[in-house]
Amino acid sequence: MDKVLGTLNGTQYTVGDSLLELSYLVAALLFVVGLKMLSHPESARRGNLYAFGGMALAMLTTLLLHRDDNGSNISLTNIWIILAAIGVGSAIGWIIARKVKMTAMPQLVSLYNATGGAASALVALLEYPKALTGDVGSILVTVLGLIIGAVAFSGSMIAYGKLDGKVGDVMKPFMTYINLLLLVLTLGLGVYITVSPNPPDEMIWAIYALFAISLVYGVMFVLPIGGADMPVVISLLNSFTGIAAAMAGFIYNNMAMILGGILVGAAGMILTLLMCKAMNRSLINVIIGAFGGGVSAAGGEQGNIREIALSDAAVLMSYSQKIVIIPGYGLAVAQAQHITQELDELLEKKGVDVKYAIHPVAGRMPGHMNVLLAEADVPYEKLVEMDDINPDMPNVDVAIVVGANDVVNPAAYNDPGSPIYGMPIIDAHLAKNIIIMKRGMGKGYAGIENELFFNEKTRMLFGDAKSSIQKLVTEIKTM
Ligand code: TAP
Repeated sequence: MDKVLGTLNGTQYTVGDSLLELSYLVAALLFVVGLKMLSHPESARRGNLYAFGGMALAMLTTLLLHRDDNGSNISLTNIWIILAAIGVGSAIGWIIARKVKMTAMPQLVSLYNATGGAASALVALLEYPKALTGDVGSILVTVLGLIIGAVAFSGSMIAYGKLDGKVGDVMKPFMTYINLLLLVLTLGLGVYITVSPNPPDEMIWAIYALFAISLVYGVMFVLPIGGADMPVVISLLNSFTGIAAAMAGFIYNNMAMILGGILVGAAGMILTLLMCKAMNRSLINVIIGAFGGGVSAAGGEQGNIREIALSDAAVLMSYSQKIVIIPGYGLAVAQAQHITQELDELLEKKGVDVKYAIHPVAGRMPGHMNVLLAEADVPYEKLVEMDDINPDMPNVDVAIVVGANDVVNPAAYNDPGSPIYGMPIIDAHLAKNIIIMKRGMGKGYAGIENELFFNEKTRMLFGDAKSSIQKLVTEIKTM
């Protein structure tokens, strides 16, 4: 391993160094393939394993082959400390991942983002004396790693608090100006540190001040953003975490960290923009638009509510040709995915064509409905994306809305005052009959009334989605 292969820019390269770089290349390939596989439910699990394999390989080869500036490998004592830290972190992660409820996944992702951001900021804090003795490039990546990592950390903690109901929305108009001021301060101090000719010990105050201001900026940046926009923010913060990790990779000149960070940063940014597109809004509008969080534009009731008896619902469904099930957050809360699949199977046996309409932001996290329905073994080809199912909605005999609300709210089309105006929805209102299953007249995440409930084609089936569908299944079986 120590055999010298050659010298580049005054540095000697050994067999071990080459193997290390090669392992990073293999790891990066595994990240890319894994990421690609995550884009389809069928291959997502394997994709996760591929990416895990890449990360495990990079960690193992770093422990065994990495050499510091003096050419020494990581000492045995440090390896034990690192392994102990990995052990503790993995155990905590394993326990949390096993215990977390599916509906609390976004909170968990937020916490993971926070830890990633904190780790990158700490790397920058620890390594800044070395960076300040280097060239402008190394100072710049350290400063950027510190700012972005700190913002990702404190912003993600606030996002976690909001999603968990521990932190409310603070939408004061002047906050935009405070945030602008904080942003200018942060960037100004960052530039000062980068170009200052002062020796490292005279810059300690500036580095810690930058860390503190960035933390405050992270908090103030997320505080005014409305609750319904949290998924977009979490994805954006996830992207920040990736970029901060890439900066930490530059600090250590570590190819695996740089590539992994860039991939996370890019994937997070693409997802952020896709979600904005799904809500028909710009990223700037999400960040300063203060949408959601319980502001009701429609207000008041809009007509009569008509209920449907279980037996009538069972007859209507059994004698239909085409049924589209529109799942939403309530299906996740009720854990109604398995019984929904049973209802689907039962209806298919009676010759009914059953499909599921999947809205990109149904539920509380990207792909939420896909994950739930895959868990219940619903075949992937039955899950139809919003844009593909909407043109067919007028031909649908019954649209069964299971615990969905905002994603079928026609206010998105016809109420310019509504906070969801312009958001694409699933056109349940175009179906010949609409059955809505929910517990009562509770509002959805955006906190607004839904005129679909008052549509003359709509019949409400009140109750917990799981028990309602269970009763329906029993009823249909006796027919
Ligand atoms: P929501 O609009 O949140 O509506 C869910 C409905 O489910 C509620 O109106 C509730 O009414 C009903 N419900 C709750 N528990 C139920 C149960 N046990 N049985 C039956 N119904 C139940 O859901 P959606 O249509 O899926 O829309 C998602 C919303 O969340 C959008 O505004 C979206 O922007 C936002 N959001 C999305 C994400 C992502 S990325 N998916 C993440 C965070 C937020 P009752 O109380 O009357 O039962």
